[in-house]
Amino acid sequence: MRWHDLPRSSATERGLEQQLGWAEGTLAVLQHAFACQLPRYGDWHAPVGTAFVTAARYYKRGVVPHDKVQPLPALRTRLSIVAQLSDLQAYLTNRYIVCDQQVAQLHALAAPAQVTLVATEAHKSLAMVAELLRQWREQGSPPQWTIIGGGITLDVAAFAAALCGAKIVLIPTTLLAMIDAAHGGKNGVNFPPWGKNQLGTYHWAEHVVICPAWLQTLPPTELQAGGWEGVKHALIAGDEELLLAWLQCLARPPRPWPRALLQKTAYIKTAIVQRDPYERGERQVLNFGHTLAHALEAVAQDNGSPLRHGYAVGIGIFYALLLSQALGKIQKIPQLAALSNCRALLSQSTLARALGDDLNTDTLWKKLQHYFAQDKKRRGNKLWILLHDVEALPRANPEPQAVSEIVLRKVWQQLTQLLP
Ligand SMILES: NC(=O)c1ccc[n+]([C@@H]2O[C@H](COP(=O)([O-])OP(=O)(O)OC[C@H]3O[C@@H](n4cnc5c(N)ncnc54)[C@H](O)[C@@H]3O)[C@@H](O)[C@H]2O)c1
Ligand SMILES: [Zn+2]
Repeated sequence: MRWHDLPRSSATERGLEQQLGWAEGTLAVLQHAFACQLPRYGDWHAPVGTAFVTAARYYKRGVVPHDKVQPLPALRTRLSIVAQLSDLQAYLTNRYIVCDQQVAQLHALAAPAQVTLVATEAHKSLAMVAELLRQWREQGSPPQWTIIGGGITLDVAAFAAALCGAKIVLIPTTLLAMIDAAHGGKNGVNFPPWGKNQLGTYHWAEHVVICPAWLQTLPPTELQAGGWEGVKHALIAGDEELLLAWLQCLARPPRPWPRALLQKTAYIKTAIVQRDPYERGERQVLNFGHTLAHALEAVAQDNGSPLRHGYAVGIGIFYALLLSQALGKIQKIPQLAALSNCRALLSQSTLARALGDDLNTDTLWKKLQHYFAQDKKRRGNKLWILLHDVEALPRANPEPQAVSEIVLRKVWQQLTQLLP
C-alpha cells in the first residue's frame, strides 16, 4: 500500500480524531507508518498535509518533519521533595486535577472536581486521552493541570495536556514514577497491535513534586517493580554503591524511604535529559534493559495478563547484562551476588503465565521478535541493543549495538534457565 491508497477513516476513528483535535486520516497515516516500520527520525517521503504532520509529530514521539526544526525545550522543570501530603495542597486549587483512582481512594485529597483514572496499560490509550480532554472541556478548560499517580497516569494525562497545550505539575505516587517516569518530559500511550508507548510527545512539566509519604500505601510488588528502575539508573551511572543500595531496597524495602536515595536517582535521569532532551544520543541509555522489557510487556498484554513495567525491566536488565557478557563487552557483572539474590524476585513461572507459553518455544520467540521489530533503536534489518560496556567505566553504553538473531535467542534461553 502507498500513502495515497490509505483507507478513509471509519466513523469511530473520525470520532476519536475529532476528540483529539487531529485531522481526519491521522490514524490511517499512523497505522501505515507502523506497518512499514518507518524510522523515528527522518524523511517519510509522505505527501504534505495536516494528517501527515500530526502523525509525524506523535509517531514514536516525534519524527521531525524536515521543514521544521524542533526547538529545544525551556528546561525549567523544578524538582521538589516535600515531607507530607498536606504540603501538596497548593497544587490542588484552580486546576484540572487528574488522579489515579486507587490513590484518590486511599488518600483523601482536598481537591474538588477531580477526574480519576484506573491505572491499567489498557487505559494507556488514545481513547483515554480523548476522555480526559472531554472532561477537561466540560470543566471549562482550565489552563493548568495537576497530574497525580504512577507512570500510567502521568504518561496518559501528560499526553492529553500536551495536545491542548496545558501547563502541568506532576505528583508521582509510585516509586517508579518518583525516580523515573515523572522526569524527562516524555509521555505517551500504547498503540495496539504496535506495542508499548508507541505514540507520544515531549511536554515538560513546570514542576515535579515528590512526596515519599505516598509510598506507605504502595503494595510491595509495586515497590519491587520500581526498584528495578533504580537498579537501571545505578548501572547507567556506573555507581556500584548506588546499585547495592537499590538491590538492598529490592530485597527489603526501607521505611520510611530515604529522600536522598530518591533524589540522587532522579538526578541521574534529569542530568542526562538536560544534555540530550530529545534522545538523539546519550538519552538512549535510559532505555537500558527496555528492548526486551517492552517486548515482554506487549506479549503479556496481548495474552490478557499484563506484566508490571518494572518487573519486565528487571528481566530486561539481566538480559542486557548477559548479552554484554556473551559479546565480550564485560568480563564480570557488577554486584553479581546481590543481583543474583534479587533474581529470586523474578520467576520462570510468573513469566510463562504472563506470556501464555513455555519460555523457549518458537511461537513465543516469534512474538518477541515482532515487538523487537518495533523497537525505536532498530536500524535496517538488525536489532540494536544497549549493552553494558566496561571499556571506560562499568557503565551502560549509550550507543546501541547490533546483535545477531542467533545470539539474541541463545542468551534468551540462557536467561530463562537462570530464572528460579
Ligand atoms: N514517561 C516515562 O519516562 C516513563 C518512564 C518509566 C515508566 N513509564 C511508564 O510507567 C508505567 C508504569 O508506572 P508505575 O509502575 O509507576 O505504576 P502504575 O501507574 O502502573 O501504577 C501501579 C499500580 O499502583 C497503584 N498506585 C499508584 N500509586 C499508589 C499509591 N501511592 N498507593 C497505592 N497504590 C498506588 C495504581 O493504581 C496501579 O494499580 C508504564 O506504563 C511505563 O511504560 C514511563
Ligand atoms: Zn522503564
